[in-house]
Amino acid sequence: MKVLLIGSGGREHALAWKLDQSPLVTDLTCAPGNAGIAEIASTVAIAADDIPTLLGLIQREKYDFVVIGPEAPLALGLADELIERGVKVFGPTQAAAQLESSKAFTKTLCDKYNIPTAAYGVFTDIEPAKDFLKTMTPPYVLKADGLAAGKGVVIPETLKEAEQELADYFSGKFGDAGQKVLIEEFMHGEEASFFAISDGKTALPLIAAQDHKRAFDGDKGPNTGGMGAYSPAPIFTQDVFDDVMTKIIQPTVDGMAKDGHPFQGVLFAGLMITKDGPKLIEYNARFGDPECQVLMRRLDSDLMDIFIAAEAGNLDKLSAPKWSKDSVVNIVMAAKGYPVSYEKGTPIEGIETAEHQDERVIVFHAGTRRDDSGALLANGGRVLNITASGENIKDAVERAYKAVETIDWDDGFYRSDIAHHALNRS
Ligand code: AMP
Ligand code: GLY
Repeated sequence: MKVLLIGSGGREHALAWKLDQSPLVTDLTCAPGNAGIAEIASTVAIAADDIPTLLGLIQREKYDFVVIGPEAPLALGLADELIERGVKVFGPTQAAAQLESSKAFTKTLCDKYNIPTAAYGVFTDIEPAKDFLKTMTPPYVLKADGLAAGKGVVIPETLKEAEQELADYFSGKFGDAGQKVLIEEFMHGEEASFFAISDGKTALPLIAAQDHKRAFDGDKGPNTGGMGAYSPAPIFTQDVFDDVMTKIIQPTVDGMAKDGHPFQGVLFAGLMITKDGPKLIEYNARFGDPECQVLMRRLDSDLMDIFIAAEAGNLDKLSAPKWSKDSVVNIVMAAKGYPVSYEKGTPIEGIETAEHQDERVIVFHAGTRRDDSGALLANGGRVLNITASGENIKDAVERAYKAVETIDWDDGFYRSDIAHHALNRS
């Protein structure tokens, strides 16, 4: 099969690495890709959100199958365009991707189908929003309705700060995404990311991972796309899994179908494991980044087989995917200053050494490129994903940090406490 993968992050490098191992994939291209992806696939310099140019490429090259990695092309309706043209695609339609692109949409679905989540209100005007705030207890959770690159959520401690933040939302701090604001109950517990594949009717459970959203050690600093991940997540017990599948994932798949927008693609549930059981924080309509990297390293089955069955509506006939018993840890290396402002173009060395000194280490690239001489340069905020497998989380953490030390990149930083929740438990 001639396959096109859309995206350029660590998630897409991990997907490309896994697709490259599939006997079903004979030709793999990635748009736009990165320097790591370019080592295993062809790359085409078209941005993931440049829908018209992507459609031109797809028409010209006659790909058999398109896999959409990030949220932007999903929210822009790339899957709809491909379905209309008779091109097979893995990824939800624009209407189904509202699970990620509109938090209010997801909350309405939760209400309608009794899916456990935080109590909330949705507001388009500041005065009623302020009145609602006064009925809540601190800390306050405020969210922009639309896509805000992971930065649309603030959690102020005091009512005064919360009111100030509200004013910022309504004055256009997040553009259109902030013209509708959600105010939520604060849920206490530990977070986990859980993934399932849906073909519109059947939900195929994958596994859980845990992410580290804050930039600095001790969960301090600004929110990022994710600074590291690990799997398995010890908090995700069999009981939690059963609850998540029966109370959250299956009702979502059924509800989306009933409401006329069946969801085909990856359901990424951001969960709070509370003392009353798992509750939904939010959905994403794609794999998590960096969670995808640890999932792909643990997946022993053919990823393309899963994508094909999801597209064809045959997931009920597919046997359960097989997973390695190993633990996998991913440490993200980011450019100093990320997620606020950072330099691009700084040189990176040492990846080959990291991979050669330990066969359990694989480095997935995110924002990287090569200059004319072939030297590797940073080309984004999150730049490298140092992944290691191990017999347990501790073993994987030690291998991953040893590998990080061999990376020679003066302009990079990383968190030194990835997987601390899991280590503290064991
Ligand atoms: P979201 O973009 O909705 O996933 O929110 C970003 C982060 O804010 C989450 O990963 C949580 O850490 C936190 N958060 C969001 N909603 C809540 C909530 N209702 N209660 C507690 N923490 C929350
Ligand atoms: N790591 C969280 C996300 O991909 O949104």
